Order: sequence, then C-alpha cells, then structure tokens
Amino acid sequence: MPRAQLIAGNWKMNKTVGESVALVKELMPRVTGLDNVEVAVCPPATALHAVGQALAGSAVALGGQDVFWADSGAFTGMMSPPMLRDVGCKYVIVGHSERRGRFGKPDESLGPEAMRVFGDTDASVNLKVKAALEHGLVPIMCVGETLPERDEGGADNTVADQVRAGLAGLSAKNVAGIVLAYEPVWAIGTGRACDGPEANRVIGVIRSTLRELFGPEVAASVCILYGGSVNDRNAHDLISQPEIDGALVGGASLDASRFAQIVQTASVIAKNTRKD
Ligand code: PGA
Repeated sequence: MPRAQLIAGNWKMNKTVGESVALVKELMPRVTGLDNVEVAVCPPATALHAVGQALAGSAVALGGQDVFWADSGAFTGMMSPPMLRDVGCKYVIVGHSERRGRFGKPDESLGPEAMRVFGDTDASVNLKVKAALEHGLVPIMCVGETLPERDEGGADNTVADQVRAGLAGLSAKNVAGIVLAYEPVWAIGTGRACDGPEANRVIGVIRSTLRELFGPEVAASVCILYGGSVNDRNAHDLISQPEIDGALVGGASLDASRFAQIVQTASVIAKNTRKD
C-alpha cells in the first residue's frame, strides 16, 4: 500500500476566530479535488470550534496543537482528547519542539523559570500520544534535534531516542495509525530549512528505528512528515524525497495561497511517484 501523504498547517498562536474562519474559507476552494493528499489545519484552541464548523463537509481535516492525557478533571488550562473530538478534530500535534521548550529562535531574555511553561518531556509526550490514540485522534508526534545536538554529531541519536521514548509501550497496531514529523529545531521559524537529501536521510533513521521497534510492515506504512521552514519554493525539493510523506507547515500555512501551493506541489508528486 502506498503511504498516505499529508500536508498539515500549524498556525501556532496566530489568528483570531474571525481571521481563522476567513483563512479556511479562502483555502478550501484552492485544495478541493486534490484527493491524493490529505490536508489538515491546526488553528489555536479558541478557533477550533468555529473552524470545525466552517470545514464541515469539506475534505480539509481539523487538528489541535496539543492535548492533555486525562479525559477531564482539575487540570487548569488543559484540553482533553474528548474535547478535541467534540469540536471535530481528527489530528493533534504532540510534542512539538516549542511545547518541549526547544526553540529555533530562542528568546535569550527568558530564563529557565519562564521557560518551564513549555514543559513537555518525552514522558508527557508518550502519555499524550497514548491518550490521543485511545480516543481515536491521530497524533502527529514531532521529533527533532537542536543545533548544538547536530553540531556534536548527535542528530540521529536524538531523534531515535525521542521516537523510542514517545512510542514506549505502544503496540505495532497503534503505531501504524500515527503520523510522525521530523522537525529539526534549528529549522523551525528560522527560514533555514533542512535540505531535502539530509531530511530524507534523518527520516530514514526514524523509519529504521520504527523497524527495530515494531517491524518492517509498520515502518513501511507510517506517514512521516518533514517540518521546519517549508514554503512554496522549497516544498518540491523536500516532499519529492522518497522517505518524506508530506509536510508540517508553520509560517507558510498562515497564507491560503502559499499553503495551497504546497498542497498542489504534494499532489503532483503523489500522482507521479509511489512511496512504499
Ligand atoms: P515553520 O514551523 O514552518 O514556521 O518553520 C514549522 C513547525 O513548527 O511545525
């Protein structure tokens, strides 16, 4: 079976409700009929419900940007998997580097105390992935190395360790239903994307880690995205790589025409190549 191709937009902390609905209304007609690529948008929590309603009946899927592992309870500020399901989410991003407190462009004025607000660890990512799956959400689990980790030659080990820890205790069947995203931290929001062959190589490392943990069939079937400064100009170089099954797009997903162009690029690639 050829692997699913996905282009997902991570809007991060951008767009009011009105702006969010306007953006998807502009986006939907531009991606209609491109049915060989799945498209998803992940608006801020405040806009999920309205965007879910605006997307009803369209092929564009809705995703959350984070999730907590409990169903309900005294967890101020958190959102549960059933709540995301309730507003129509299919996907949820889990373990984004920004939620792990690992930034492509760190704010040097913030000390470690302030940074504790971004508290995800491998252990919390693992709980979130499990909770999302239990409730029928597709987690998009992000992994990626920082620049110092890369400079020290540790990129491959960092991502392999994050994959092992994030997926600990899951069955092969569960893992077959998730999406992974390789997002080198140094490429996020910096305008400096990883080049296609290197992103392809690291995603190959992720796939061989999956093979070692869950067997060759699961490793061959899991959709693995690249994320980090993807735009309408570099999308082809990245998405046409054999191991790369799509993109998680930040900045360029805030503009309907740029995002739609990335989807169109992926659709042409999916038509011409078979990745499995
Ligand atoms: P960027 O963000 O495209 O703005 O670099 C990607 C991401 O964080 O998912």
